[in-house]
Amino acid sequence: MCGIVGYIGNKEAKPILIDCLKKLEYRGYDSAGVAILNNGEINLVKSKGRLAVLEEKLNHIKVEGTMGIGHTRWATHGEPSDVNSHPHISKNGSIAVVHNGIIENYIQIKEFLAGKGYEFRSETDTEVIAHLIEHNYDGDLIKAVLKTLNELEGAYALGVLSIDNPDMFVAARKDSPLIVGLGKNENYIASDIPAILKYTRDILILEDKEVACITRDKVDIYNQLGEKQQREAFRVDWDVSAAEKGGYEHFMMKEIFEEPSAVKGTISPRIKGNEIELDKLTITDEMIQNCEKIHIIACGTAYHAGVVGKYIIEKLARIPVEAEIASEFRYRDPIINENHLTIVISQSGETLDTFMAMREAKKRGSRTLAIVNVVGSSIAREADDVLYTWAGPEIAVASTKAYNTQLSALYLVALLLARKKGLLDDGMYHQYLDQLQQMPDMIDSVLNKREQIQKFASQHFNAKSIFYIGRGLDYALSMEGSLKLKEISYIHSEAYAGGELKHGTIALIEEGTLVVCSLTQDQLFEKMVGNVREVKARGAVVLAITCEKNASEVAKIADSVITIPDVDSVLAPIVAVTSMQLFAYYVAVMKGNDVDKPRNLAKSVTVE
Ligand code: G6P
Repeated sequence: MCGIVGYIGNKEAKPILIDCLKKLEYRGYDSAGVAILNNGEINLVKSKGRLAVLEEKLNHIKVEGTMGIGHTRWATHGEPSDVNSHPHISKNGSIAVVHNGIIENYIQIKEFLAGKGYEFRSETDTEVIAHLIEHNYDGDLIKAVLKTLNELEGAYALGVLSIDNPDMFVAARKDSPLIVGLGKNENYIASDIPAILKYTRDILILEDKEVACITRDKVDIYNQLGEKQQREAFRVDWDVSAAEKGGYEHFMMKEIFEEPSAVKGTISPRIKGNEIELDKLTITDEMIQNCEKIHIIACGTAYHAGVVGKYIIEKLARIPVEAEIASEFRYRDPIINENHLTIVISQSGETLDTFMAMREAKKRGSRTLAIVNVVGSSIAREADDVLYTWAGPEIAVASTKAYNTQLSALYLVALLLARKKGLLDDGMYHQYLDQLQQMPDMIDSVLNKREQIQKFASQHFNAKSIFYIGRGLDYALSMEGSLKLKEISYIHSEAYAGGELKHGTIALIEEGTLVVCSLTQDQLFEKMVGNVREVKARGAVVLAITCEKNASEVAKIADSVITIPDVDSVLAPIVAVTSMQLFAYYVAVMKGNDVDKPRNLAKSVTVE
């Protein structure tokens, strides 16, 4: 939620800030702004709307200066408007602040500052930070920021500049992401690495409550007590093009097309000589034998991956699993002990609810394993063990390749647990490993069906409501298919367990209602055929997703059939989801929606 950047160097800050913000727009896109220091003055330009609106505004204004901070916003406190946009300026105009996160005690601080004569222009929580730094300032900006941080409750990533300090700016973070990029006679801050990858590959990660003093030629990091900290930089080795559209019309399409390589990158390095080796996992065989229960915790798409995880871990490893939405888990006083394992799943590694739920599980004695995409993210750093999903940067707000790789990681975990528990004989185990390695090719064959899926989408993009039904793993898959559609097409959609539909929701099926039916599970195939007949009998139009071997039978009852290769039922979701992602994508494109930046959403949700 919200993206922040900062630059200090010898080049003009304006184009660099805008360029970096373009990479962060996925984090929020309802308003944007920059503050650039020049000749003892802060040039503040901000505006409601997409970054393009700010860029256009800046094209007509002369804004010079070689140090500045910038922001792209996803509104939490106060509607999107020019005045609520960041940066926010302190009362005397000497301090500018950009912020990502939420200050929980901002009302108390506001009242305190109002008592001291501070007036507030915006409805944001951020404005109090600017005023509070001014209030705490006695000539030393670092000290003033440290003192201010002590008084803030909540989450923040901050960039702060002041008129009195023309050769430095300050950055700080707690529970919101922020990295520092090191250049030659120039330095950067940003909410994530891809934003500055074009300019530098040398990165420093700030820890919670640390403050960085950033000048042209060095970066000093201080802890809460103002003591200098040593920090090694690390070098990023991904390709810059990973964060570019590379000829595709949308990031989402590019990312769907990257699924085969992302899945391969997640699975292949972990299968060594016919055995699964999961990085440096510290879970011992004894812990696995004693594991009484697994909790899988996540939000959004990652949660849907977790639901698949529940089915497959229970099926293969026979350990009870609860898959739960992080925001619910956190506050329901969960029953956990030291013989439980908590798996948290997160693309960004920054989702606040997931992060806090993980802390809650840890506090109650559970070991934690994080399945995360962003290297060095908060969740990755705090979990006992991390299994990275090597999907590369995911920019489109609607998650696609991250889901397939999360499933890949969960399959590896499920198979490893089953193997360690002696539940899979050599034959079965190696068969699964072989099949798992065929996933990239199978996804490829679904990608080759895109024209057929596009055609079907063109016939249905005006639907008012679309239902997704399936049983077992197909139900878990349907949840994700339905979410993808809602997110980007804005069509009302619900996912139902095939057998549950008749207990109420079937009342909503009428002549012409589109129902996407998944029939990839051998064991449940006949039951699903029955459910397809039930909705057809009530006038539904059925789009069926099934394996090639069942295509002709399903074609007799469905209006359209998308086939996936004949895959073991346990592994089917990883392949079948691609067809649902493509369907949602084409529907959204045909509706003329902004596919990569759907309304009201943000990619990384660092608020509760
Ligand atoms: C947001 C995004 C979703 C994502 C969810 C969890 O709501 O819009 O696409 O699935 O957060 O994000 P995470 O980074 O934890 O996987």
